Amino acid sequence: MTDISQRKADHLQLALQGQHQSATSAGFDGIRFEHNCLPELQLADVDCSTVFLDYYCSAPIIIGAMTGGCEYGETINRHLAEAAEALNIPMALGSQRAALMDGSAQNVRHWAPKALLLGNIGGTQLQQQGVDLAKQAVDSVQANAIIIHLNPLQELVQPNGDRDWRGVLNAIEQCSASLNVPVIVKEVGSGIGPSVAQRLIDVGVSWIEVAGRGGTSWASIESARIEDTLEQQIAAPFVDWGMDTAALIPHLRRQSDQLGLIASGGLRNGIDIARSLRLGANMTAIAQPFLQPALVSTAAVIDHITVFREQLRWTLFLTGSKNLKELRSAPLLPA
Ligand SMILES: Cc1cc2nc3c(=O)[nH]c(=O)nc-3n(C[C@H](O)[C@H](O)[C@H](O)COP(=O)(O)O)c2cc1C
Repeated sequence: MTDISQRKADHLQLALQGQHQSATSAGFDGIRFEHNCLPELQLADVDCSTVFLDYYCSAPIIIGAMTGGCEYGETINRHLAEAAEALNIPMALGSQRAALMDGSAQNVRHWAPKALLLGNIGGTQLQQQGVDLAKQAVDSVQANAIIIHLNPLQELVQPNGDRDWRGVLNAIEQCSASLNVPVIVKEVGSGIGPSVAQRLIDVGVSWIEVAGRGGTSWASIESARIEDTLEQQIAAPFVDWGMDTAALIPHLRRQSDQLGLIASGGLRNGIDIARSLRLGANMTAIAQPFLQPALVSTAAVIDHITVFREQLRWTLFLTGSKNLKELRSAPLLPA
């Protein structure tokens, strides 16, 4: 096993453990819909479908980016991809760097021939290897868009992680200018705040995935892999570093009406999905909750997505919203 695939295998094992979820919530508990006990709707008419990047989606839920690049990464990706295909749900791939190196990158498109697939590479990988890496990532799976992930905290905690972040914004700008698919920029659990969002918008990025604090903590996962006690001590207070997802969404929405906004980081049920949309997100992405079912089967992933989708439809019903447009103006209780 190579160093990269060993690291990815460790990540999957650790991500499954509840103790590496953020100790603080993503902030959704404080967002409460006014309950509508006179919905004047029938549930069968409640529609949570949407259009994302010109594709019909049966729900505004993206299977969030999770790395393959190790032995059972293939199995996980297969189950996720087949579920995405069956349900008309977009799937974000995990970082494709390893898959591009070992030639397995194209498999996901084979399992999900018609699905909306989002490619994925790291911001520092882009800065080091240039736009060609992003082009390869897109071409290898005929991706409909490319996600660039920014994970400076994770890289700091990771032994031998990337410490040189100079030129990443410029690399993103080059990417936005020269790729023929949309560029989405995401964090991995600390969130993208208004200032960084503005810098991204200024270089032509049209979609941001928040990936705020409240769900999977990469500082915690990487800390568990460190053997050096001094490094562990340095990393310790950063385990909960970051900005809560629920707090960030309205800020980013106020910043720009036009920005495509994907809420992620700690969304754990269909009510959180509804809250995110009400706060201003266009779409949502969920990663860690799909990991366990993805180890089991495609059917298990389909069941899990179905639960989230039905919870979202119930929330629409209980707020008297017939569709997502109406949900976006459903009354909230004052904080
Ligand atoms: C096992 C695992 C692997 C991940 N790998 C990647 C990755 O390769 N690229 C990326 O952009 N994000 C990656 N993420 C981060 C997620 O996409 C997401 O931003 C983060 O986990 C927060 O969402 P969650 O709380 O729903 O898990 C990974 C998450 C998990 C759980």
